[in-house]
Amino acid sequence: MKIKTQSLSSVLSKKIKSKTATIGVIGLGYVGLPFAVEIVQSGFRVIGFDKNQDKIRLLQAGDSYIADLSKENIRQIIKNKQFEVTNDFAKLSHVDVVVICVPTPTTIDGTPNISFIEEATYSIGRNIKSGALVILESTTYPGTTEDIVQPIFQKNGFVIGHDLFLAYSPERIDPGNNRFSVSNTPKVVGGITAACLEVSKVFYETVIHTTIYTVTSPRVAEMEKLLENTFRQINIALVNELSQICYKMDIDVWEVIEAATTKPYGFMPFKPGPGVGGHCIPVDPKYLLWAGQQHGISATLIEAADKVNESMPNFVVNRLEIYLRKLNKELCKASIVVIGVTYKPNINDPRESPALRVIQQLLDSQCELKIIDPFIQTFSVQQSLLNTVPLTAEIIRQADAVLILTNHANIDYSLIDQQASLIFDTRNTNFAFENKNYHKL
Ligand SMILES: NC(=O)c1ccc[n+]([C@@H]2O[C@H](COP(=O)([O-])OP(=O)(O)OC[C@H]3O[C@@H](n4cnc5c(N)ncnc54)[C@H](O)[C@@H]3O)[C@@H](O)[C@H]2O)c1
Repeated sequence: MKIKTQSLSSVLSKKIKSKTATIGVIGLGYVGLPFAVEIVQSGFRVIGFDKNQDKIRLLQAGDSYIADLSKENIRQIIKNKQFEVTNDFAKLSHVDVVVICVPTPTTIDGTPNISFIEEATYSIGRNIKSGALVILESTTYPGTTEDIVQPIFQKNGFVIGHDLFLAYSPERIDPGNNRFSVSNTPKVVGGITAACLEVSKVFYETVIHTTIYTVTSPRVAEMEKLLENTFRQINIALVNELSQICYKMDIDVWEVIEAATTKPYGFMPFKPGPGVGGHCIPVDPKYLLWAGQQHGISATLIEAADKVNESMPNFVVNRLEIYLRKLNKELCKASIVVIGVTYKPNINDPRESPALRVIQQLLDSQCELKIIDPFIQTFSVQQSLLNTVPLTAEIIRQADAVLILTNHANIDYSLIDQQASLIFDTRNTNFAFENKNYHKL
């Protein structure tokens, strides 16, 4: 038995090192698609699996729905047959390594929804060949790999560490970040057994040429990812709360943060804003909160941070009302231009964006609303589909206020500065505004 184990993991390691292994990626979204392209670029043939037919059709036609990935790049690797995309999960029988990048949202009551991980695992279990490696990369609560994924494979007759290798490695991609990508961000990995860890390390070392940091179990790797994102959520909540206090005390919160940043140790700057968004920061701390509750710990700090971040859209709308009133305008009769819908600059992802909550509140107030975001054409707010419009001098001139919610780099701020009657900038946009009615959060 031992001889067979060693031979299966060493056969796979050799296949990976020689780049003759075929790699599968399940879930071709913001995480899976860039990673699949990265694996292709490192010299492997990749099969990408997704159950969304529209995404498969777009990719097969050589199109890209991720701002960081060019159409030319996708077209080329599809044409060269280095990258195949499919919703035929039987093709999982052709892969040697499979990486799971499916969503991990929360349910309506805020608890983890790991049904996508379970579904992907069942697809793998039914089709994968003996001697393959499976790595879960979706963010999730500690214990998912060992207590949820492993038993599914065991029911399919696999013995983990013997004829199937299983590990967890959190994805750290930061969409829109030009400095850090998959290829230069250290990777943390934890395997179920020593053989699982070893073969996973060989895989990542061959694909990405950066530090591969190994931990003693998948649980540690799962927890460290939740620490990373909860750390951000809590620190953003702190500066958001500070911005509310500073406003009441007539102190510039941005100047305070800049001054604190001069301390060379023990301080790290975070920026206030209209709230938190994306698939990670508003969601992942809820996984940690839930995990704590399962063990009798009520993580009050996480709950308090969530409450503060959730209060920001309302704080922003209230401040806008105050500035309008100073110009003798009521919000309900005002015409407002919103700049930016996505949850952070220079990307096309509006998921969980705080801008959606601000826009909903503005719509509820009955004001006239125009929305500008060069990265998206349509988006939905509480089931209504809304369109963005192009930025023109006329639109800005006719508005009573311009509300900057996302500071995309490709916005003509000089035009806004010259034409707007009032600007409320929730992001401290990097532009020297001279407008006499310019206000920062
Ligand atoms: N977006 C980020 O910036 C980011 C960063 C780090 C980690 N993560 C984590 O990575 C994971 C994926 O996030 P994302 O933003 O890429 O999500 P996404 O929604 O953009 O993409 C997930 C894809 O998986 C597909 N899918 C769902 N179930 C499937 C199944 N059973 N089989 C095949 N395909 C399936 C969906 O159709 C979708 O295309 C999440 O756990 C998230 O928390 C995301």
